[in-house]
Amino acid sequence: MINIVLFGKPGAGKGTQAEFLKEKYNLVHLSTGDIFRHNIKNGTELGKLAKSIIDRGDLVPDEITTNMLRDSIDNNPDAQGFLFDGYPRTIAQAEALDAILSAKGTENAATIALEADDEILVQRLLERGKTSGRADDQDEDKIRNRYDEYNQKTAPLMDYYKKQGKFHAVNGIGTIEEITVRLSAVIDNL
Ligand code: AP5
Ligand code: MG
Repeated sequence: MINIVLFGKPGAGKGTQAEFLKEKYNLVHLSTGDIFRHNIKNGTELGKLAKSIIDRGDLVPDEITTNMLRDSIDNNPDAQGFLFDGYPRTIAQAEALDAILSAKGTENAATIALEADDEILVQRLLERGKTSGRADDQDEDKIRNRYDEYNQKTAPLMDYYKKQGKFHAVNGIGTIEEITVRLSAVIDNL
């Protein structure tokens, strides 16, 4: 079993790359953002709880997010491995993920970051906002708030994973295919 955390700022390409990597390495792709949006679309209690927080571009509280992630892992008992996208986003979530995987007798093999400059990413998200229907993509203030949340709460995870010797970074600027090649090179070396 191989588990990988795909890490990066909003719009860095985590979801785009996950579509290729999950096929190539036979991994179950778990995007907490996608799971929240699915719940919002279906009007579940979780969706109602999370909607206003996500629309503002704030992070959903750790306990809610971690419980949801744990359920998603438990719902895939036959997985050969997981590709985590958008989780963890806080130190508390990173510690929770380590504990969840350890209880299953496995671990996170690597955290791979897609690196890109904020200004390029803000433009990508504004462009996507024209068609995505995502409230958090449509307004530059909300997008900037997502970067503030990232800088304050998520960026410290780089040191957390460096201390574990599990942090790898790749250049997130280039064609989608070029970036898949860079990520695959890291995974193939694990
Ligand atoms: P989430 O859905 O995870 O959003 P995000 O991390 O802010 O970023 P995106 O999903 O928008 O970007 P991405 O890196 O997947 O890039 P993508 O491939 O889409 O989270 C949404 C919200 O949910 C959070 O703000 C929070 O409220 C909540 N949430 C989720 N997880 C949480 C957690 N763990 N804890 C607490 N709250 C949580 O690509 C972006 C765009 O760029 C696309 O248009 C794409 O086509 C384009 N693109 C991709 N690659 C390239 C390329 N190489 N060149 C040019 N364009 C490209
Ligand atoms: Mg995404």
